Amino acid sequence: MSHPVAEEAPTAHYDALNLVRDALAAAADAPDALQAAVDVLHDRFPSYDWVGLYWVDEAADELVLGSWRGDEPTEHVRIPLGVGICGAAATSGQTEIVEDVNADPRYLACFTTTRSEIVVPIFADGKVIGEIDIDGTDLAAYDQTDARFLEEVAALLAPLRLRD
Ligand code: SME
Repeated sequence: MSHPVAEEAPTAHYDALNLVRDALAAAADAPDALQAAVDVLHDRFPSYDWVGLYWVDEAADELVLGSWRGDEPTEHVRIPLGVGICGAAATSGQTEIVEDVNADPRYLACFTTTRSEIVVPIFADGKVIGEIDIDGTDLAAYDQTDARFLEEVAALLAPLRLRD
C-alpha cells in the first residue's frame, strides 16, 4: 500500500502549478498576475503563512518587495543584496531552505511567529532577477518538494518581471 503523505504532497504541488498557470493566463496585467500567483501559493498551502516576491533593483544593489500575502506587512521592503536569507539566495542563486530561522545567523527577522523559511531565486537570462520568499510558523515547514515546485513557479513568474 502506498504511503499517503508521499502521494499527497506532489499531487498538491501539481494541482497548484496548474492553478498558478491558470491565474497568470486569466490576469489582466502583470501586477495582477503576480498577485494572483502569490495568492494561489498562500491559499493552497497551509504552511505558506507569508508569501512575498522580491525583485532585484540593480541600481541600488537591493531587493525590493513586490506582491505579498500574509497576516502582516514586513518592514523589510528593501533588503541589500547579501543581507539576510533573502539576500543570500539572491547573491548565490541557490534556493535556501532554513529549518530553524533562530539557528541561522543570517536570518533577518520579520515576524515573531516565523520558525522556518524558504527562498527561491527567479532567473532571467541566467541572472537572478527576483525571488519567492515564504515564511512559516512551523519548524522545518519546507523541503525539497517545495523547492522543486517553487522553482517551477519561479520560472513561470520570470517573464512578468516587475517592480510591482
Ligand atoms: N527573513 C528574510 C527577510 C524577509 S522577511 O522574511 C519577509 C531574510 O532573512 O532575508
